[in-house]
Amino acid sequence: MSSNNYTAVENAIRSILKNNSYDDGSIAPVLVRLAWHASGTYDPRSPCPGGSNGATMRYAPESTDGANAGLEHARAFLEPIKKQFPWISYADLWTLAGVVAIEAMGGPKVRWTPGMSFNTIRSSGRQDYDPSTSRIKFAKIIPPNGRLPDAAQGQKHIRDVFYRMGFDDREIVALLGAHTIGRCHANRSGFEGPWTYTPTRFSNQYYVLLLKTSWDKKFLANGNMQYKDPEDELMMLPADIALILDPKFRTFVELYAKDKDTFYRDFSSAFSKLLELGVKRNQNKL
Ligand code: HEM
Repeated sequence: MSSNNYTAVENAIRSILKNNSYDDGSIAPVLVRLAWHASGTYDPRSPCPGGSNGATMRYAPESTDGANAGLEHARAFLEPIKKQFPWISYADLWTLAGVVAIEAMGGPKVRWTPGMSFNTIRSSGRQDYDPSTSRIKFAKIIPPNGRLPDAAQGQKHIRDVFYRMGFDDREIVALLGAHTIGRCHANRSGFEGPWTYTPTRFSNQYYVLLLKTSWDKKFLANGNMQYKDPEDELMMLPADIALILDPKFRTFVELYAKDKDTFYRDFSSAFSKLLELGVKRNQNKL
């Protein structure tokens, strides 16, 4: 059993979240996005299954995937913590940071299980892929681009991506609730602005605003289309609006807008499941 002190790592992550020179004063949202994108490449039917195991976003083509633009900042923020606690794998650190960030913003506790970082032939849980020592070929471990969702698309695409990972409609709507925090950056995704007035507080505001605001199309100078509220302060992506256009998705938007506790419970279990994708407990070393 590992005697590694995960509580010390959690405290160290908590201590760097507040950052007045970054975005809305917190790096927590971008850490959540790192945890999600590290995990969201999962495709169990591919010879290269992806997922959070391996921390493969350190390598091209995953590191240079347009969908991951901006996540180099999240990885850099965590680098001093990796130096301080060299025994933790990047794969564990990135996913744990997402969990700590959600809770620190007022979100639910999320169950998180570490990998074991001892150097035996058989190890289990999240490890880091090391191309210089591994016998597994790059192409079998670094997922190709194109597995993460495209914000310009609607419900069919969202279902294709999340069903591939094993999520159902209710889990999809719960996971998208993470857009209650953070913002879009023109120079990263080509979209711009926050979803809510409180981008550093986790809550169910995303669903409330989706339903009660009248969303109009807005065309950006780069040609992208997003939605704006009447004051043009908030935004929604076409993928967010799909949640109210699709009757099945909409049922869950209505549920979570009314019932914060149910949202927190569902989000917590779906996010925990997301972070386990591609993680085989009791596997050979990567
Ligand atoms: C259909 C699915 C999704 C699409 C199309 C999508 C798209 C996007 C886009 C375009 C951005 C802006 C990135 C930037 O410009 O910096 C973003 C940000 C974000 N996304 Fe998603 N996303 C999806 C699902 C999720 C999920 C499942 C989570 C987590 C559970 C999540 C968490 C976040 C967070 C926290 C941010 C803010 C990052 C920041 O402030 O830097 N998203 N998303």
